[in-house]
Amino acid sequence: MVGNWKMYKTPTETKAFFDAFLPLVAESKHCEVAICPPFVNIPEAVAATRGTRVGVGAQNLYWKNEGAFTGEVSGPMIKATGAEWVIIGHSERRQFFGETGATVLERTKAALACGLKPIVCVGEMLEEREAGRTEAVLAEQVGGGHAQLDADSFAKVVIAYEPVWAIGTGKTATPDMAADAHRLLREMVTARFGAAMGAGVRILYGGSVKPDNVKSLMAQPEIDGALVGGASLEAGSFASIVNF
Ligand code: PGA
Repeated sequence: MVGNWKMYKTPTETKAFFDAFLPLVAESKHCEVAICPPFVNIPEAVAATRGTRVGVGAQNLYWKNEGAFTGEVSGPMIKATGAEWVIIGHSERRQFFGETGATVLERTKAALACGLKPIVCVGEMLEEREAGRTEAVLAEQVGGGHAQLDADSFAKVVIAYEPVWAIGTGKTATPDMAADAHRLLREMVTARFGAAMGAGVRILYGGSVKPDNVKSLMAQPEIDGALVGGASLEAGSFASIVNF
């Protein structure tokens, strides 16, 4: 269960979140848990979660280790903070910041090279779904991006399926719709890397996951976890999702 805070919270608010959140999930052992705050809050989040089972991640990274790239943050810099995870290719980055399959691939390689665990996001826009292009879009995003990794590298990638029309809109994909897309993704992974990888790849669902719909989504065997935006900002609501 991964919280994606997007561009919300200051370091002080980050500390307050973990003070409230950690006691609520201390007993829950059934899943991995991570929070991906804005870069500036990562040190605070790492300090707050030290010695707990809650991990910390970034929301992006640049693929060079260092250099004259004003405004960018590299994998080794993130890794040095103690963060473990990094979200790559979120639809907001694809839509607003020019992310493509090729840049997703570069970022994923850079994450793996420094030992960060990549969570690579894919998902179709509403007009693509309505035009019956969901499968083609997913194939292009996966095939043009992280599926070009070698098998050992791909085995370390977590995929997040996030239909863009469900993100921040309150319109969750029905559990069946989400499971159908996850099945397509598994078939693509199977075609590229074989059946064991297709069955084993971890695929999170994201898009308006809330305490009241998480159970029905997680009841789908195809769905391994959730990438949660809005509902991860409040300790009680994210704890309810973790403890579903
Ligand atoms: P949401 O965001 O839960 O607010 O829909 C999900 C995401 O963008 O990762």
